[in-house]
Amino acid sequence: MSYLLALDQGTSSSRSIVFDRDGHVVAMAQREFRQIYPQPGWVEHDPRDLWQTQLETAREALAKAGLSARDIRAVGITNQRETTVVWNRRTGEPVYNAIVWQDRRAEATCAALRDAGLTPVVQEKTGLRIDAYFSGTKLKWILDQVPGARAQAEAGELAFGTVDSWLIWQLTKGRTHVTDHSNAARTMLFNIHTQDWDTDLLRALDIPAAMMPRSLPSSAPFGEVDPAWLGAPLVIGGVAGDQQSALFGQACFSAGMAKNTYGTGCFMLMHTGERFQISQNGLITTAAAQPPGTPQYALEGSVFIGGAVVQWLRDGLRAIESSSEVQALAESVPDAGGVVLVPAFTGLGAPYWQPDCRGSIVGLTRGTTMAHIARAALESIAFQSASLLQAMSRDAVASGGVPVAELRVDGGACVNDLLMQFQADLLGIPVVRPAVIETTALGAAYLAGLHAGMYSGLEELSAQWKAERVFHPTLSRERATERMAQWEHAVRQTVAA
Ligand code: G3P
Repeated sequence: MSYLLALDQGTSSSRSIVFDRDGHVVAMAQREFRQIYPQPGWVEHDPRDLWQTQLETAREALAKAGLSARDIRAVGITNQRETTVVWNRRTGEPVYNAIVWQDRRAEATCAALRDAGLTPVVQEKTGLRIDAYFSGTKLKWILDQVPGARAQAEAGELAFGTVDSWLIWQLTKGRTHVTDHSNAARTMLFNIHTQDWDTDLLRALDIPAAMMPRSLPSSAPFGEVDPAWLGAPLVIGGVAGDQQSALFGQACFSAGMAKNTYGTGCFMLMHTGERFQISQNGLITTAAAQPPGTPQYALEGSVFIGGAVVQWLRDGLRAIESSSEVQALAESVPDAGGVVLVPAFTGLGAPYWQPDCRGSIVGLTRGTTMAHIARAALESIAFQSASLLQAMSRDAVASGGVPVAELRVDGGACVNDLLMQFQADLLGIPVVRPAVIETTALGAAYLAGLHAGMYSGLEELSAQWKAERVFHPTLSRERATERMAQWEHAVRQTVAA
């Protein structure tokens, strides 16, 4: 019983990882599932696909590890956040597809809430901006648009959940309807001070309280996996939204510690300890994943197009055949030759919040080659992340704290050394890649392990965290400032275009 099983339900695939007590990966399984795009700007998943692929990977990971469920001490769940599922409590059938976090269909509802003057109230209670990204207005859309849904919800027949809740419902065969505070904090319906659903916000969005799951701290008894699924009953002891889970897996447990995940997009979070802080620099405030105790918070910013810019080089420009070729192409030139690429393919996220602008490439000359564009594409990931970190440091200093001293990194693109070095150069602080880069799943495993009494506490987990490589800044601060100014100039031109 010295292993932990983490279920990581992401936007494009479901993964399951078995960890040993030291946080090493023992076995992993992964399955992609269907993405559904019914209209421009809409993104859906079939909730049954999420559950099926998740269950299959859990079974496969155990088999690959040569373990049975009896060897597993506890299960942790981490998941794509904000994605909204509504199902019938009696049949367990979803009433509509899951509306994915990327889906923009609720924009008009958000505009109406902003016009009604709710922005400060929402920010003060939830830490969020009013945006279609979060679950609340997606849930309202389902209740308003799916025939009969509102009446059923009012009669207590329907349940709402983010993906963690949906999976727990399935795993426990409908015995438990719960979520954790880090997922609840992404709904725009949850008061992150009282750690409870907010009656005023539920009313403002016309959502019956009877639909809402019980919300628990991220390390808690979330229910028991039915023995039918994995062969033995298992305690679900940890649950966290994937980005907060990565912050936990990176052992960023105290104020000022920050991580950046380089995936399709990039998600940067900085722990702010017990201080709830509203950003003056375009970030949002969210609940950190933690064991039971005084609420802790984090500031968060997201870059919409991170590693996706490399996919675009591959699939759109056909500059490379596989993503792994990007580093060699970018390194074939000494620099980007004055080219700056602003990958605002779907607008710009924090700290710019320019949903309507589109991408641009500036600084082209007769001498520009595909290698310069590839280098500029990689650099754009670091530029966007650097402007987020600068915003975080400004917020930290404004509230009497200190600037971020190092950035811990994870996610697929963190294996790119050129990118990580450029990131350190721009930031002027060390960029640290951990030995275990599966930090999202590791965070959920640790939360479960803490609940199961496998670890003595956060100190033990901090001691377990190990760096694999530290990228120290080599560029002069003067040159780094010039490069950032070049980027900001290109962003201004892009926004103005
Ligand atoms: O907020 C959205 C985020 O949780 C999605 O993460 O890793 O599934 O793209 P990922």
